[in-house]
Amino acid sequence: MSDSNFSKEVFREADTDTSIRFLLHTEARELTDFDPCQTVLEYLRNTEQMTGTKEGCAEGDCGACTVVLVEHVKGKLHYKAVNSCIMLLPHLHGKQLITVEHLRHPNGRLHPVQQALVDQHGSQCGFCTPGFVMSLFSMYHNRCRTDRRTIDDELAGNLCRCTGYAPIVKAAQQVLSSIVPDQFDDRESATMQSIKDLDTSRMVRVLKNDEQFFLAPKTVREFEACIAAYPDYHVVSGATDVGLWITKDQKKLRPLAYIGLLNSLKKIRNTNGHLQIGAGVALNDAMKRLVPLYPTLRDLLIRFGSVQIRNLATVGGNIANGSPIGDLPPAFIALDAEIVLQGQNTVRTLQLENFFIDYGIQDLKPGEYVSRINVPVHSSKDSVFKVYKLSKRYHQDISAVCGAFFCHKSRGRIKGMRICFGGMAATPSRAYNCERFLENKRITELDVEQACTALKNDYTPITDFRGTADYRLLAAQNLLRKFFLEVKSKSQLDIRED
Ligand code: FES
Ligand code: FES
Repeated sequence: MSDSNFSKEVFREADTDTSIRFLLHTEARELTDFDPCQTVLEYLRNTEQMTGTKEGCAEGDCGACTVVLVEHVKGKLHYKAVNSCIMLLPHLHGKQLITVEHLRHPNGRLHPVQQALVDQHGSQCGFCTPGFVMSLFSMYHNRCRTDRRTIDDELAGNLCRCTGYAPIVKAAQQVLSSIVPDQFDDRESATMQSIKDLDTSRMVRVLKNDEQFFLAPKTVREFEACIAAYPDYHVVSGATDVGLWITKDQKKLRPLAYIGLLNSLKKIRNTNGHLQIGAGVALNDAMKRLVPLYPTLRDLLIRFGSVQIRNLATVGGNIANGSPIGDLPPAFIALDAEIVLQGQNTVRTLQLENFFIDYGIQDLKPGEYVSRINVPVHSSKDSVFKVYKLSKRYHQDISAVCGAFFCHKSRGRIKGMRICFGGMAATPSRAYNCERFLENKRITELDVEQACTALKNDYTPITDFRGTADYRLLAAQNLLRKFFLEVKSKSQLDIRED
């Protein structure tokens, strides 16, 4: 490959960078000759010889590899726990990386989160411990609440096979109920300045050879030019899916376009009755805006993936990968969301449901990319929206079935019913038969069993290791029953109630 395809006006040598820069705790690092598909975990253990961070599963499930990324945004430092086993080196550009080796105070004192684990006997074999320490460290800096539910949700991405969770939860409660500034707080302004000095103002372009072929555009115009120059590019954002192609399938992804520097894709706006969510918005950031509108999404998103995953995974990634068991598409389709696709000089807006054509096939033309999702803000007291996820394990499991239901009522009758299921067909898809049956029915007189029969004609699910076809159909019908039980038990349809 060569970069001769590049338009020289778009990519002037002086406007591009050939290296990535980050802080490893307090030390600046600059990588010029690097493999953009190398994981941060491999880099830490093999290049930096820092072996405190462990590899358990290498797929973002166990949390043994947890490290903390610190970003400087609008005069504040944001601490985010992430899985280093599926995070790629480009993710580090312009950020501070903190690992378990950095927590002990220079005077030799353990960090309060480490001390709490010692006090509460929160470690046995110790393999998971660095991961728990780093998750607790991020909770400490995010001033996490100390109730059991919050702690369970926050630590759901860290697995321990031998200690048992009670001492670890006690350690969390101990340390989070007496937070005092630590050495990281003391160094806050120096860290902000050091992050600023990393200078990430230019697009990164590393086009040396097949192993080092990587672009990280800063502007949409640069990204569109990248796509035009390299139609076989692989886009990577959070890498929570793509990272597994690398660690599990040993795939070589070249050329790689990392879109994490594109701030224009990370915006959320509330305009024209829609929440416009940029494709590059991380799930945890999207959650903060979506849950106040639709509280039912909290339970879905909490179970979607761990905190570490949700800090990296993006809204656009969950949709663009076209998985029939992705959890956002059924919810967004039931809410009647749109998807905005952009290319060089083109913009298309589709109903999200029309984006999914068949298994693994999306309506994405060459040169196009997912730019944002427009989620309608339904604020009517006469509307209700619910989404339910069924999976074998409660936290962090892929759905066997995910059902989303939106119902608008007018004068006691159902108007504008939208039902969408994931896991029931090759794509997330609507239950049109059932919707037609329900339309205009009086809620108080509704025969839900007839609606369940209508639902049967909407899907021919498959049998796989997550569930049999019969199980899936019965589960989908039960979710419909559950929805109407909940709706009927309320005197009013109120979308803001959960
Ligand atoms: Fe298991 Fe990274 S090694 S989550
Ligand atoms: Fe052994 Fe947690 S202490 S796995």
